[in-house]
Amino acid sequence: MIPRHVAIIMDGNGRWAKRRLLPRVAGHRAGVEAVRKVTRAAREQGVEALTLYAFSSENWRRPEEEIGDLMGLLKHFIGEHLDELAADGIRLSIIGDLSAFSPDIRALVEGAIARCAVNTGPQLAIALNYGSHDEILRAANRLAEEGGPIDKVRFEAALYTADLPPLDLVIRTSGEQRLSNFLLWQAAYAELIFVDTLWPDFDGGALADALAEFARRERRFGGR
Ligand code: IPE
Ligand code: IPE
Ligand code: MG
Repeated sequence: MIPRHVAIIMDGNGRWAKRRLLPRVAGHRAGVEAVRKVTRAAREQGVEALTLYAFSSENWRRPEEEIGDLMGLLKHFIGEHLDELAADGIRLSIIGDLSAFSPDIRALVEGAIARCAVNTGPQLAIALNYGSHDEILRAANRLAEEGGPIDKVRFEAALYTADLPPLDLVIRTSGEQRLSNFLLWQAAYAELIFVDTLWPDFDGGALADALAEFARRERRFGGR
């Protein structure tokens, strides 16, 4: 079975660069290229929704220079690849708190989302300044303000992922085996696949391998 919704923790750009004696930014640049390839591969392999962890709410702890490089690459990615995403019929969305970004980045991102809003193809959600703890607290505060009983349906509708299908599979690259504050609520019954490949080296073939591994898993959801 093909997972409807796949999320990827794109980790290992820094180590990829280090192995080549290159600056970290070179790893992030190569990572952007992998995003392009894997987005296309996911579409071709029949994945309905792809969520990519690009910048966590904890990544602000990195040196200012690296954060600047990542913001520059985000602008570059939208500038270079928006036409391709739009032509591929991708519905683009962002999960995370965009209010922390500079007005120019916000405008660019919101313009890109608007441009892809009419599309009917697969969904691509990019997690920017995303953290599950923030997401859950934001939903809880919003629902508390509204009042009334809170059930699973109302709670999930208040999460950033409200418009995405249920999460089936989380892939993390680079050998780390943790979730790093990513989709904690949504991953309750998702399958987890950890691969040693560093993100810039992850490609359509690696995605196909992960989907094949997913197909071999038996999901029970607590039943028998
Ligand atoms: C992932 O690569 C990209 C982001 C977190 C933005 P890293 O930058 O975390 O790379 P490593 O983990 O240091 O190798
Ligand atoms: C997780 O990677 C965040 C992204 C891939 C955007 P990190 O490299 O920030 O995670 P930790 O710090 O190793 O847990
Ligand atoms: Mg990392």
